Amino acid sequence: MNSYYAKRAPEHDTLMGYTDNLRMENLLYPLIRRFEKYIIDQDVLEIACGTGNWTQVLSKRAHSVLATDINHSVLEIAKNKSYGKARVTFRIADAYALQKIKGKFTLAFAADWWSHIPRSMIPGFVKGLHTKLVKGAKVIFVDMLPRESLDRMFSHYDEEGNLIHKRSLSDGEEFYVVKNFPAEKELKSIFEGKVGDFEFYQDIPLKRWMLAYTRR
Ligand SMILES: C[S@@+](CC[C@H](N)C(=O)[O-])C[C@H]1O[C@@H](n2cnc3c(N)ncnc32)[C@H](O)[C@@H]1O
Repeated sequence: MNSYYAKRAPEHDTLMGYTDNLRMENLLYPLIRRFEKYIIDQDVLEIACGTGNWTQVLSKRAHSVLATDINHSVLEIAKNKSYGKARVTFRIADAYALQKIKGKFTLAFAADWWSHIPRSMIPGFVKGLHTKLVKGAKVIFVDMLPRESLDRMFSHYDEEGNLIHKRSLSDGEEFYVVKNFPAEKELKSIFEGKVGDFEFYQDIPLKRWMLAYTRR
């Protein structure tokens, strides 16, 4: 997963169709409008920011954004993009070791990250994330619903039930990557009784889901 995205960095925006941020924002606005009110004037911790496309969306609305990713190659691309009014900073951070980050945040955001978390690592990730948030902070995850272009990459399910994709880059190098598609029921069972204001939304035309909740 790490090395796949490290090496995919130069191809990421083209593969995602994210070459123009305004176009991306307009395309995804039916989804963004569901949660943009939560971003306004917040101090955001962004997990797995990649090449910064969602950081750009956040930066137009937030007070500050600390955009983090484990891979240097994606952050180098992100740093060269333009951002909105928020104070935007970048740092290398492992989503499973967030305690190394100083300070607390009023909002956490991650796009296309949840689907890559192996099932056994979800509790540790969520626990670590919550230590970096003030009480009452919102948490927003945006991710993908199944789609034909991804179905073609199916390889197998591993021993803990993670869906594994076989993916290749333009030079032919192949990688096995976790790509899960959790149902609302599964997400509810993870968070039920532990968080407030659980809100799940599926945008069928955009083939995306969003989860927002309040950290208690
Ligand atoms: C599918 S990309 C999403 C990037 C970006 N959020 C977007 O939507 O364009 C997944 C990102 O997770 C990052 N990543 C992989 N393992 C990570 C980890 N353990 N901690 C933080 N980021 C990680 C990769 O470098 C990659 O940028």
